[in-house]
Amino acid sequence: MSGIRKMFDAAPPDAINLGLGEPDFNPPELVKEALFQAVREGFNKYGPTRGIIPLRDTIAQIYEERYGPASRDNVLISVGGSEALAVAALTLYEAGDEVLVPNPGFVLYAQHARMADARPVYYSLKESNNFLPDMDELESKVTRRTTALIVNSPSNPTGTVFPRRVVDKLVDFALRHDLTVVSDEVYDQIQYLNEPYSSFWGRLDKVIIVNSFSKIFAMTGWRLGYMLGDKDFLTEADKIHYHLVACPPTPPQIAALKGLQEAEADVKAMVREFRARRDFIVKYLRSIQGIRCVEPTGAFYAFPSFDWGVTDVEAAHGLLQRGLLCTPGSAFGPLGKGHLRFSFANSRENIGKAMTILSEYAHDIE
Ligand SMILES: Cc1ncc(COP(=O)(O)O)c(C=O)c1O
Repeated sequence: MSGIRKMFDAAPPDAINLGLGEPDFNPPELVKEALFQAVREGFNKYGPTRGIIPLRDTIAQIYEERYGPASRDNVLISVGGSEALAVAALTLYEAGDEVLVPNPGFVLYAQHARMADARPVYYSLKESNNFLPDMDELESKVTRRTTALIVNSPSNPTGTVFPRRVVDKLVDFALRHDLTVVSDEVYDQIQYLNEPYSSFWGRLDKVIIVNSFSKIFAMTGWRLGYMLGDKDFLTEADKIHYHLVACPPTPPQIAALKGLQEAEADVKAMVREFRARRDFIVKYLRSIQGIRCVEPTGAFYAFPSFDWGVTDVEAAHGLLQRGLLCTPGSAFGPLGKGHLRFSFANSRENIGKAMTILSEYAHDIE
């Protein structure tokens, strides 16, 4: 990733940034207000290791209403989804374990496995299969050392949501091989499928859900997320979590609780805007010479491929020189090669300008 970081740092100041992994919105007003109030009222101390009880109760209630039985004992509040993923890995994996990791996929999964002395084993999410897993390939990758399957739907970077029928197959697969599913659901509320979101919660005993307030309340910098898991697993996870961070930050928890209680309309408005931008960017991308684009069904990323005779890193550099920042697909694993990730967490006006730059680039390079 360091090459990409350097590229981003070298971007001209007026470059249009479609490299962002976070909403371009601000947190809902009432969420911001709740944070200010918490700080003013003196909630500035360490809190409980697992997070404040009203927030854990509210999350449990939401999961129970949507997916399956949950109580506060199944919920641990973390420092972003990132910490929850690290805690899951450090709690779950033994040295030498193999972990099935999506390719392309979010950058932390493989590294967390390595931090725990486990071995990441990639499974493919190919464009030719609409970025859905190939069940035969998954079967072929299981050994007696395989302990976990990581799933990320909606996916970063592909923008794909696994429909119910795919989740059913993955549940069956995990049960047959006695694997724990670690399901990263941080984009669960940002999806455009015409069916309810399919969580893994309530579908099998050996499951860990990772979620976050970063995307949904546009509060990436406040660092708040959570995990759900079986009570005994959380007792172990709690120890790692304590030794890493002591506790999650207090004022953002109070703000997130307010958001869960009262910010539904703000979240819906943000998702509506993302959907409109999704429609716009996909239509534009598909009109450009040499580009193929699977329609994203969730998150805020389009992940097109191109056949311009250059690598994704070269294409990203070429675009940067013309004032457009995007992420080369290979940053997300070997199967990301030949793709670019465009985040549509930017205004429609800027997306329009970005697409003009892209089509000029495509025209010049052909
Ligand atoms: C798929 C996925 N999971 C987890 C995270 C972690 O987010 P955070 O630590 O801000 O909750 C991100 C952030 O980009 C992500 O894209």
